[in-house]
This record gives sequence, C-alpha cells and structure tokens, in this order.
Amino acid sequence: MREWELAVASYWETKSDRKDQCKIVIVESAIVRLLGHPVKTGQARSGFRKFHGNTGWRLKHCVEYDRRVRRIEMKLKDKVAIITGAARGIGAAFAVGFAREGAKIVICSDILDGKETVEAVKKAGSQAIFVRTDVRKQDQCDALARAAMDRFGSIDILVNNAAVLVTLKPFTEVTTEEWMHVMEVNTAGPFHCTKAVFPYMKEKGGKIINMSSAVIFEGVPGMPHYAASKGAIVAFTRSMARELGAYNINVNTIAPGFTHSAGGDEFDRNKTFPPVPLDEIQIPLKCIKKPAYPEDLVGTAVFLASDDSRFITGQLILNDGGLSFH
Ligand SMILES: NC(=O)c1ccc[n+]([C@@H]2O[C@H](COP(=O)([O-])OP(=O)(O)OC[C@H]3O[C@@H](n4cnc5c(N)ncnc54)[C@H](O)[C@@H]3O)[C@@H](O)[C@H]2O)c1
Repeated sequence: MREWELAVASYWETKSDRKDQCKIVIVESAIVRLLGHPVKTGQARSGFRKFHGNTGWRLKHCVEYDRRVRRIEMKLKDKVAIITGAARGIGAAFAVGFAREGAKIVICSDILDGKETVEAVKKAGSQAIFVRTDVRKQDQCDALARAAMDRFGSIDILVNNAAVLVTLKPFTEVTTEEWMHVMEVNTAGPFHCTKAVFPYMKEKGGKIINMSSAVIFEGVPGMPHYAASKGAIVAFTRSMARELGAYNINVNTIAPGFTHSAGGDEFDRNKTFPPVPLDEIQIPLKCIKKPAYPEDLVGTAVFLASDDSRFITGQLILNDGGLSFH
C-alpha cells in the first residue's frame, strides 16, 4: 500500500472522529510531510472510498500509522534516561513525559518505591525499571549507572530531580543536622549522580538536567538551607557545563515556582507562615494567573533533554508562570 493512501485513509478515519483533535493534527502534519503539500480533496475522497468498506482493517492501519508518525515526531526517540526522585511528583511526571516522547527506557530511582511510576511509564508506551537509590551515597549512584549500562548499554539523559523540600521556620530553629541533610540530598546528590554517569556519557555526549527553584530569586524567608541548596545547583550547573562541554554533554537547570506535586503540597500544608495557601499569594503576582502542576514542567524537561537544545548549556530556565524574572 502506498504511503499517501495510508495517510489519506488515516486522515479520513481520524477526521471523522472530532473528539480526538490531537490525532488529527498529527496525521495532517504527516500527510503534509509525506506529500510535500496538504492532501487534495480528490485524493482524500478516493482514499476514503477505497477504505470505507473495511472499517476494522482501516482502524488497525490507522493506529499503526499513527504510531509510526508519532515515532517520527518523538523528541526523545530511543533515548535512555535516568530520573532521580521519580517515585512521585515532578520526577514521576518527567518519567511519563519522556516515555510519551519515545524514550526507550526510563530508569526511575528514589528512596521511595517507584512501582507506580514504572507502571505509568509502561502505560505511556515505554519500558521502565526502578532502581532504589539514595542519592546521598556515591556507591548507590554508581550502582544505578551500572544497572542502566548493564541492562540497556547507554545513558543519554540524567535528570537530577531528587530533593528534600523543607518546612518553613525561622532560621534560628534550623539545626545544623537539618542544614547538612538538605545539602547532602539537594547538592551532593546531583554531584554523585553526575559523577556516576560521566564515564558512560563522555564518549557520545548526553544531557544533564538539574532542578533548582524560583525561591533563589524570590528570597523566601524560613528556608535558608533549601534556598542555599537550590542556589548552589545553579553554580554547580555552570561549573559542570564548562567542564563537560568538551564531551558534548549539555548541563542545564530548571527552576520551577511553587508546584502542586506531592512534596509541594506537603510543604504548603505544613507551613505556618504565611497562613494561607501559596496560590492565594502567588497567583495574583504571576503573569500567567494559574496554579502550576508537574505536567507544566514536562515540556521544558523534554526540550532540555532533546536535540532541540543542543547548543544550550549552563543555563537556567525559570518555569514559574512569570512570578519572578531574572
Ligand atoms: N514542588 C515545588 O513547588 C517545587 C518548586 C521548585 C523546585 N522544586 C524541585 O523539583 C524537584 C522535585 O520536587 P517535587 O515537588 O516533585 O518533590 P517530591 O517530594 O514530590 O519529590 C521528590 C522526590 O525525591 C525523593 N528523594 C528525597 N530524598 C532522596 C534521596 N536521598 N535519594 C533519592 N531520592 C530522594 C523523594 O522520595 C521524592 O520522591 C526537587 O528538586 C524540588 O526541589 C519543586
């Protein structure tokens, strides 16, 4: 069967299903790509007539075609990605988002059980494994990287997402132990993971994404340890970008604003000041007057993990709906 006929059949099939606008756009753009121009009405009609009689056959081929087109358009096709702190929250959303963009495998790591994320990634059409890892421990991060290499032979993307979010309190009540714990997870963790993947990334390049926070611009009181750890990540990113650029490894940072993840919601619930939900204060101050959810960050992560950002490194992308500028 000729490509354009399949395209036309798919076009009509999806066109008749007005509920699935997204599919229509994908198939239409595929037709333009295949034919070099939008399909002509005559061709479309004859394609439709040709396949009209055999709905089951047409549907099967439409689905197949759709998958093929999606694979062409996928930004992370066949990439192997490690995401730390992926058992829940933003990390879990990244894992599913990467799967939707064709990542061959998403390795989810966390100190919590990552079973749910693994299932969600599989549902999104990718493979996934869970490797329990405490990012505070270099040996565990090394084992995580080895597990990825042993099973999949490559590591293309590392997202240093794991972190502890803290409870707001006056700085005089923050103990040295708390300070050190936050630093160990939030700053030593990315250092350990970067060190662990470097031997495997250095031959063919890769993408490293670190997670900072808009709090470094906002100057939020009551979280000096968290803010310091997220400021350190920006400096870490720049330093690593300089050092790893020679190996074709891009290192960038995403700085989200307050986001309704599991950890973000816990943080909002547990804080004693300000005594109102953060959205009440922040949404009026944002340019985009909406609450943020983990899914709002996925596009930025996909971009930084993909070839589209190949000439961008050492940068910070603030993703807070325009609450702060830098
Ligand atoms: N949610 C927000 O409002 C917000 C805002 C700015 C930045 N961030 C950043 O985004 C990232 C994701 O945060 P989230 O909101 O999804 O939080 P979350 O608490 O929902 O997820 C963080 C994950 O990290 C894991 N983790 C904690 N310590 C670990 C360790 N030692 N080793 C391995 N994993 C560990 C947790 O188990 C958890 O699954 C973090 O880096 C956070 O600082 C979040």
